[in-house]
Amino acid sequence: MSKKILVLPGDGIGPEIMAQAVQVLNTVNEQHSLDLEIEEALIGGAAIDADGVPLPDSTLEVARNSDAILLGAVGGPKWEPLDRAIRPEKGLLKIRSELELFGNLRPAMLYPQLASASSLKPEVVSGLDILIVRELTGGIYFGQPRGIRTLENGERQGYNTYVYSESEIERIGRLAFDLAMKRDKRVCSVDKCNVLEVTELWREVMERISQEYPEVELSHMYVDNAAMQLVRAPKQFDVMVTGNMFGDILSDAAAMLTGSIGMLPSASLDKNGKGMYEPCHGSAPDIAGQGIANPLATILSAAMMLRYSFGLGEVADQIEKAVSQVLDKGYRTPDIYTEGTEKVSTEAMGQAVVDALNA
Ligand code: IPM
Ligand code: MG
Repeated sequence: MSKKILVLPGDGIGPEIMAQAVQVLNTVNEQHSLDLEIEEALIGGAAIDADGVPLPDSTLEVARNSDAILLGAVGGPKWEPLDRAIRPEKGLLKIRSELELFGNLRPAMLYPQLASASSLKPEVVSGLDILIVRELTGGIYFGQPRGIRTLENGERQGYNTYVYSESEIERIGRLAFDLAMKRDKRVCSVDKCNVLEVTELWREVMERISQEYPEVELSHMYVDNAAMQLVRAPKQFDVMVTGNMFGDILSDAAAMLTGSIGMLPSASLDKNGKGMYEPCHGSAPDIAGQGIANPLATILSAAMMLRYSFGLGEVADQIEKAVSQVLDKGYRTPDIYTEGTEKVSTEAMGQAVVDALNA
């Protein structure tokens, strides 16, 4: 049976990096007769330009009928003056929420070849392998009420609501514990329960769930300390589980430990394992159209898709190995360039991965 993949290139560098990931998918599709069917649709600023909204109903419809989704990135200065309700980011938040993609997996793995590209000392990051499990459809990103109101004295006030229900905490907790069982069996739950009641409940529920996983060691950390520990001694972590906003912030920090956020894929899964896959980085409008963006995070996201949504772990391994070989050869896009390596374009990097797969 064919596997329907919806490709959403989005904005900024999105289309450039996606073109390379699609090439890679086409290559493994042919090699292994995977019967992948790739369709493309609009999201973000590109959708606003064409249809006036960041997530057209037609895109959502195809997304619902697809087996997996591969997304580039959304947003850019062009759309920043728009009303908040129709900004590109809203399209991304809406598709996550509509498809109930509550579990966001953001691995931060260091390719040994890139140890010198990290801003931390090689001994601090070598062998790094962290998995951040970020809750993606709740928390302060979605809590009501929210808005900007005018007070009686005429001053304006912005407000958001940080909420998590027990069931939301339970399902992300279970996902984190299940994933830890396949790794080093350690979960660090990140909260701010010295200040925020919502995370007091978070901690309590994590403790409760941990009873179901006697083999997994659970620890807790305040988010400020977690940010510090990530840059001080990141190898202490195996799986980190946290809410939407803390996860957004910590995953960027963790990404940078690996040399470049341009290397990191992510998966966003629903309760049945259907997923949307995207690079952790954004649309990088400042370098869009120059052919210098790193396509590897998107290529690795495609590999994650094959692994998690289609059970094609071996094909995913091949793509990951091809990426590693390309790094061995010394090819680097500017974001991971260090002296003595060879600076290449987005297209050349994608082609090098295809060549490695064909070799
Ligand atoms: C991310 C991004 C998004 C988020 C933005 C673009 C809405 O930063 O995926 O990490 O905050 O979730
Ligand atoms: Mg982010």
